[in-house]
Amino acid sequence: MLACEIRAFVRELSCIFSILCGVAAFNLDLEKPAVYTGPVGSYFGYSVDFYHPSQDRNAVSVLVGAPRANTSQPGIVEGGAVYYCPWPASEPDSCRQIPFDKANNRMIKVNRTREPLEFKSHQWFGATVRTHRGKVVACAPLYHWRTVKVDSEMDPVGTCYVAVQNFSAYAEYSPCRTNNPDPEGQGFCQAGFSVDFTKEGTLVVGGPGSFYWQGQVITAGVAEILNGYSLKAILRKVQGEKQTSAVSDTYDDSYLELVAGVPRGAQNFGYVSTLPFNTLHHSMASYFGYTVAVTDLNGDGLDDVLVGAPLYMDRELESMPREVGRVYLYLQGGVRLFNSPISLTGTHLFGRYGSAIAPLGDINQDGYLGKSAVICYG
Ligand SMILES: *[C@@H]1O[C@H](CO)[C@@H](O)[C@H](O)[C@H]1NC(C)=O
Ligand SMILES: *[C@@H]1O[C@H](CO)[C@@H](O)[C@H](O)[C@H]1NC(C)=O
Ligand SMILES: *[C@@H]1O[C@H](CO)[C@@H](O)[C@H](O)[C@H]1NC(C)=O
Repeated sequence: MLACEIRAFVRELSCIFSILCGVAAFNLDLEKPAVYTGPVGSYFGYSVDFYHPSQDRNAVSVLVGAPRANTSQPGIVEGGAVYYCPWPASEPDSCRQIPFDKANNRMIKVNRTREPLEFKSHQWFGATVRTHRGKVVACAPLYHWRTVKVDSEMDPVGTCYVAVQNFSAYAEYSPCRTNNPDPEGQGFCQAGFSVDFTKEGTLVVGGPGSFYWQGQVITAGVAEILNGYSLKAILRKVQGEKQTSAVSDTYDDSYLELVAGVPRGAQNFGYVSTLPFNTLHHSMASYFGYTVAVTDLNGDGLDDVLVGAPLYMDRELESMPREVGRVYLYLQGGVRLFNSPISLTGTHLFGRYGSAIAPLGDINQDGYLGKSAVICYG
């Protein structure tokens, strides 16, 4: 079973005796989550985010990465895909592949023979996906290219695609595909292994493999990536792009500037370190913290935290623990004071429930007042 589900966190007004009306209670919709499924073996649900098209601010849908999915790209095996899933879900298989890239491998003429310039099979496109208002980015960290050398090599530089205007304009962005190959350069960058937008909408791409796995962070504006984009521009320097460089004798202060520009990441660390970990004796080796999402779920103005533990074992029957995965919801009761967690446990054995989580912002759909999160397993 490979699926994602939307959990609605419903804030209700409940009445305890007639004089105490208006006490805010908090419920989880455990009965009927919206469920989406993808092709078997595609790793559907490996990544996930919500999407609001900029034309219609109230509409919301879910984007789900399936990094081993087959696509319509000719000659490419398991290139990976990102699915557009409408919400509310009509049926579990209502998701459709977004055509970020319909093309085959590009070819290049070297010494009068044509050979592939790049290798899109098994590139893990959709391993990461993020949205910011109408902008979408999705990446293939295992995308390889032949390098600038005379003899063809296969360097895993990674690549990303951005989409705007509700998927009517696309551009590729492969910031490590440069003339600085090999492990000591950017050849093993794996750009897009992690990706996010800053609050202002600047793209932030993580490339953990550059410079002998020192790793680097690269930022660029989406407008600049789209502006003047051409399929033929293989080695392209986007205007205004910033790349952290290898650690050297000279102090590189651009790195601090970049990290300061990633509020979501910094915030997550701060919050997770303040959670009551002593309540989590059950979660040893459960990969607690594999995923985190921060959002104000109950609408009290304080951010709440969802933490995924996809290898969590359910020990209800001590003799037969079942690895099912779990998501913990910590409501922030007062500033930096977190309540004991509410837990949502997976139901499918080895389902890795919580391996991807995305919070949903303000929404008021179907007449209920509340917020939601999407949680994936499989
Ligand atoms: C993709 O297609 C190949 C070749 O047709 C097949 O062997 C493989 O199982 C398919 N993978 C998935 C995840 O559907
Ligand atoms: C180009 O091809 C010729 C003949 O196949 C070969 O002798 C020569 O070494 C090649 N040059 C390079 C730079 O690979
Ligand atoms: C946006 O794109 C999706 C997927 O192609 C499509 O289903 C939807 O109708 C589009 N929405 C608008 C407002 O054009």
